[in-house]
This record gives sequence, structure tokens and C-alpha cells, in this order.
Amino acid sequence: MDVLTAIHARRAVRDYRDEPVTDAVLAALIDAATWAPSGINLQPWCFFVIDDAATLAACSARAKTALQDAASDHPELASLRPMLASPAFNIFYNAPVLIIICATTADEMAMKDCCLAAQNLMLAATAKGLGSCWIGLSETWLNTDQAKAALGIPSEFKPVAPIIVGYPNGAPSVPARREPDVRHVGKVAWS
Ligand SMILES: Cc1cc2nc3c(=O)[nH]c(=O)nc-3n(C[C@H](O)[C@H](O)[C@H](O)COP(=O)(O)O)c2cc1C
Repeated sequence: MDVLTAIHARRAVRDYRDEPVTDAVLAALIDAATWAPSGINLQPWCFFVIDDAATLAACSARAKTALQDAASDHPELASLRPMLASPAFNIFYNAPVLIIICATTADEMAMKDCCLAAQNLMLAATAKGLGSCWIGLSETWLNTDQAKAALGIPSEFKPVAPIIVGYPNGAPSVPARREPDVRHVGKVAWS
């Protein structure tokens, strides 16, 4: 699959088949992630892979609680309250794997590097017939001391991109894109 096809075919997948992703496939996705550009080629990332269903369910429960507790600070999440309160809702959509891309340093450039690695990983997943979805709703909890301690994430690392992957159960609908706002800058009359 060429890169433009992968860019257009990638979707946020929220329904997965009960089918494991092999270590070889996961390694290929992580390899693709590491070929992202990074400032001064520092490659300031670390990949935490969780593929145990019980652990993922426990992480989901904790992430939902953390979001509910933080709801007053996040009025934009008000519409999600019923979903977060539902015990049946798994924030990771029962995907078989969660890959948390963590920045190994706290600086802003490392965050950008991790976002680029995340996009590479999601496009590679598409090319291999896998679905993926960035689960921003888990970030509040993942960035707590408790979550880091439980998952073995060093305290100085910053979880940036929690990405679920797995084999899609059907094809998600395609959300429309807005026309790009493009403003061409001609010859500048410097003052
Ligand atoms: C930073 C970020 C956080 C996201 N967090 C969530 C999330 O917590 N749950 C979810 O279902 N989708 C999440 N998404 C997926 C977006 O909703 C999705 O990318 C968007 O609706 C566009 O759809 P598409 O990816 O299929 O083009 C997130 C995407 C990004 C980039």
C-alpha cells in the first residue's frame, strides 16, 4: 500500500475482532514508528505494549474514573458522562493491544516527536490491515503517578500517545474533512 492510500484509508477504529496481533506485527509497527523524524534525531520515545485483556479492562476502569473525577475541570467532557459511567463501556473498545508511546524527556520537542511516531505507527497499522485509534480519553489517568507505577512507566517519562491496535470488525464510516484553509503568501513588501 502506498503512503497516500494509507493516509486516506486510515480510520479511527472502535470495533475489533477477537483476534490477537502477533509479536512480529507489533514489532513491525513499532519499527515504522521509529522511522519518524525527530528533533536532532534524539528519538526520545519508549513504547509500552499492553496485550493482556484483564489488564486493559482494569486500565479502562481506572481511566474512566479519573476522567469522571476530573469532569468539573473539563466541561467539554459533559456529554461523555453517561458513557463513562457505564460499566459496559471499555475506553479501549476491547482492542487486543494498547501501545503507549511515551516521551522520555519532558520537553515540548519530544512530545512532537512522539506524535510523529504515533502517526507512522497508525499508518503502518493501516498498511498491514489493522485498525488503530488514539485514545486521548486515557491520558488523564496515564499521566498519574499511580498509573505510571502500575504500568512500570518511569516517573520522568510522559505518556503522549496511547494507541489501540487490532483487526477491525467491519469498516468504520468516513468522517468528512473540511476544505483546507490555504493562504498563499506572495511577494512581501517589507516595511
Ligand atoms: C489526539 C487524539 C485523541 C483522540 N482520542 C480519542 C478517544 O479518546 N476516543 C476515541 O474514540 N477516539 C479518539 N480519537 C480519534 C478521533 O476521534 C478521530 O481521529 C477523528 O474523529 C477523525 O476520524 P478518523 O481518524 O477516522 O479520520 C482521538 C484522536 C486524536 C488525534
